[in-house]
Amino acid sequence: MTHKQLQSAARKHGTPLVIIDHDLIRKNYAEFRTHLPKVQVYYAVKANPAPEIVNTLYHAGASFDVASLPEFMTVYENIRHLPARQQQEFIWDKIIYANPTKPKETLVALDRYKPLVTYDNLNELKKIRQYAPHAGVVLRLAVSNTGSQCELSNKFGCAPGEAVDLILAAFKLGLVVEGLSFHVGSQCTNFENFVQALNSAAAVMKESKARGHELKILDIGGGFPAPYDRHVRPFSQLARKINTEIERLFPKDIQILAEPGRFLVASAAISLARIIGKAIRDGKTCYYINDSVYHTFSGIIFDHCQYHLKTFKKGKREVCAVFGQTCDGLDTISQSEELPDLAIDDLVYAENIGAYSNASATYFNGFPPAKVWHVNL
Ligand SMILES: Cc1ncc(COP(=O)(O)O)c(C=O)c1O
Repeated sequence: MTHKQLQSAARKHGTPLVIIDHDLIRKNYAEFRTHLPKVQVYYAVKANPAPEIVNTLYHAGASFDVASLPEFMTVYENIRHLPARQQQEFIWDKIIYANPTKPKETLVALDRYKPLVTYDNLNELKKIRQYAPHAGVVLRLAVSNTGSQCELSNKFGCAPGEAVDLILAAFKLGLVVEGLSFHVGSQCTNFENFVQALNSAAAVMKESKARGHELKILDIGGGFPAPYDRHVRPFSQLARKINTEIERLFPKDIQILAEPGRFLVASAAISLARIIGKAIRDGKTCYYINDSVYHTFSGIIFDHCQYHLKTFKKGKREVCAVFGQTCDGLDTISQSEELPDLAIDDLVYAENIGAYSNASATYFNGFPPAKVWHVNL
């Protein structure tokens, strides 16, 4: 979007505002499919659960990774109108419930859809057997998350050494293990994590086959990095490595899934805010904007993400601090942003803010989340 269009959007819709461009979501989806043509894309709804985004990706042909019953229902809304049989086929073929820990009530609610769900320990397996006996299961492996912006292996995934026992345990309980999954950590710029994880998964699959259980699905998770800055190597480079390893390590007929979240939506959104306060503290200019880390900028806390603020004003740029609108000291957007001299009511904007941003916005201090404007729907 041009500066003019952004300024006019702020006038028309007010601030704080998040603009989500659906052409960019479709472009990111197409890029993923072009470079990883053998991989079925399950959009990780958690990255941005806006129903409009789910709808756009549904029409683009995507499948979905959900992590809760409400996320499942957001996807389900798109297929509610279909006959029961087609709904069931969509759920089988195109939804994975990829949160390895599920409340039993969720399992009970999902069982009638015969869902595909992940697990990584024996207690979860027993729970699935008891409350969702019609589910198919996928075992989540712990893999290296070194260098990724957000680590996940501290919380999820079985050790590769336990994997075959957990596969055998599932079959013994009468469940069918459809495949393996892993997650290399979110915003994974260390491509070696993918290479190691694929090798680890291949070894588990080989042993499982030797023990009588050939698995059909490999779910390579999320982690595909968004181009936040020029240090992030192109997606095509990562895809080439993944394709090479898949070709080398797995049988031709294996079904490969991925759960990209950030890659599809991060670059599709821009947020706009207004300067609502200005002070000089210890010689440094401090700006206060009408958004916060409890709102659109929540990724600073939950996603370890740094967003750079830009302005439409020209002039000599100086190091300044930018704070959010709430009364909390944690609400610091940046201690060292470089901006020209700004005045109350000037606009600032942040790019690449479509993932893990308004998804985790709250009503803290009584401020509602920013208005979201969807363009090119
Ligand atoms: C199981 C699972 N799949 C996919 C994702 C999406 O990851 P990303 O946004 O890094 O692609 C996450 C993120 O936390 C996840 O936990």
